[in-house]
Amino acid sequence: MADLSHQDALTVARIVRVNHAGEFGAIRIYSAQILVAKRFWPDCVPSLSEMLGHERNHCAAFHAAMPPRHSRPCRVMQFWSWGGWLLGFVTALLGPQGIWACTAAVEAAVHRHLDDQLFFLIDRDRELHGIILAIREEELAHLHHAEEQLKSPGPLLNLLRTTISIATDCLIWLSTWGDSSRMTHALKSAKQA
Ligand SMILES: [Fe+2]
Ligand SMILES: [Fe+2]
Repeated sequence: MADLSHQDALTVARIVRVNHAGEFGAIRIYSAQILVAKRFWPDCVPSLSEMLGHERNHCAAFHAAMPPRHSRPCRVMQFWSWGGWLLGFVTALLGPQGIWACTAAVEAAVHRHLDDQLFFLIDRDRELHGIILAIREEELAHLHHAEEQLKSPGPLLNLLRTTISIATDCLIWLSTWGDSSRMTHALKSAKQA
């Protein structure tokens, strides 16, 4: 880890906290979807289970990255837990297209956040940069898989994707009490510098 300014160290700690919470939310989304899919849409279960395995590894990687960066889990993990679970449950009830619209929206939001973070971290925390780079590969595969399943999304599915995208951003903001927007602000200033 490079010798960081106080402000940069805080941003790095926030990155790890937001990502850990996000991965935890993803675990809950996929778990709820698998629960419903096992009953109604068994064809979706193998890919959802594979993704769930990835999210568990991602969550563990961010958890392990916390102590050296003086970061702790987000204060309102319950919020992620039930928010994610409810999102997964409701979208899975809508059918396979609901499942994949949810995955596409969430993974695309995750991808945007990770891209900004990578830019910030490259000169500041090589180790975390490497962790996120590897994770981003898998998130991108999740996004592509979901998009392949959404062959001809109609206006309703597009509306669902937009709604989930907004809900995901709100969830990120609420659960970190603005940490994520302070983080985005710090990342933007880094880009302009
Ligand atoms: Fe993940
Ligand atoms: Fe993912």
